[in-house]
Amino acid sequence: MSELAVPPEGSVERWAWDYVTTTSLELKLSPPPPPSVWSASPRRWLLDRPGRPPELVQREARKKAVRPGALKDDTRRAEVLHTFLHHELQAAELMAWALLAFPETPEAFRRGLLGICMDEVRHLGLYRDHLVTLGHPFGSMPIKDWFWERVPGESTTATHFVARMGIAFEGGNLDHGARFTEFFAAAGDPRAAAIQAQICEEEIAHTAFALHWFRTFTGGVDFEQWRAYLPEPISPSMTRGTPLNLEARRRAGYPPEFLDALAAWGTDHVER
Ligand SMILES: [Fe+2]
Ligand SMILES: [Fe+2]
Repeated sequence: MSELAVPPEGSVERWAWDYVTTTSLELKLSPPPPPSVWSASPRRWLLDRPGRPPELVQREARKKAVRPGALKDDTRRAEVLHTFLHHELQAAELMAWALLAFPETPEAFRRGLLGICMDEVRHLGLYRDHLVTLGHPFGSMPIKDWFWERVPGESTTATHFVARMGIAFEGGNLDHGARFTEFFAAAGDPRAAAIQAQICEEEIAHTAFALHWFRTFTGGVDFEQWRAYLPEPISPSMTRGTPLNLEARRRAGYPPEFLDALAAWGTDHVER
């Protein structure tokens, strides 16, 4: 087993390592294309935190809940888009984190993580460009590493990862994404609405990926079994929006019994 402190130069793993650990805002927003060579090492590269550029300041204060009417205000809308961009950044980083953390998984799984990582990078670029037109570039508002605090860890397995990141949080984004598409349109920002709609549509494949691999790893997509993989104190009600985007969730492949069980949980707002 390699004792190198970092994955070998020129490998996908090294690219992923560099993406997670860089403290350059430019590289977070526009990483170079990943190489095509995978490291042959069976080593697990476990990163415990992302690099954070000095421009990204952690939010200490609580955020006010968003009233849809308030989104007519450019600054309020930019705050929401800034938060969504940071969700995409964390998703990209966590996909890279996972391909380093689970070398024992099938290569098809890790290739899928890399593909999703690049989708997330593209998504954050859509928000970044629009935020510039609103006069609030990325880094001009505080951030919160909510997903980093809940998804990865020493005891996180590939099954935990797809249960949390894909089935729970990207799934919840299908509900929130549809709702915010309408809010942005109603607020008179058709570009934000179009970005939101495009991302929501593309997240269906990400959720489908997670459902596929959860089924592969556990033998099915059982609601109670999935619950057992959520991080404390996250409950199913914190992983969904209201209303459920049933059309998108069905297309992603959530079983009908799963959706019935999720619907019965109601919604519990969490500040991200
Ligand atoms: Fe995304
Ligand atoms: Fe995603």
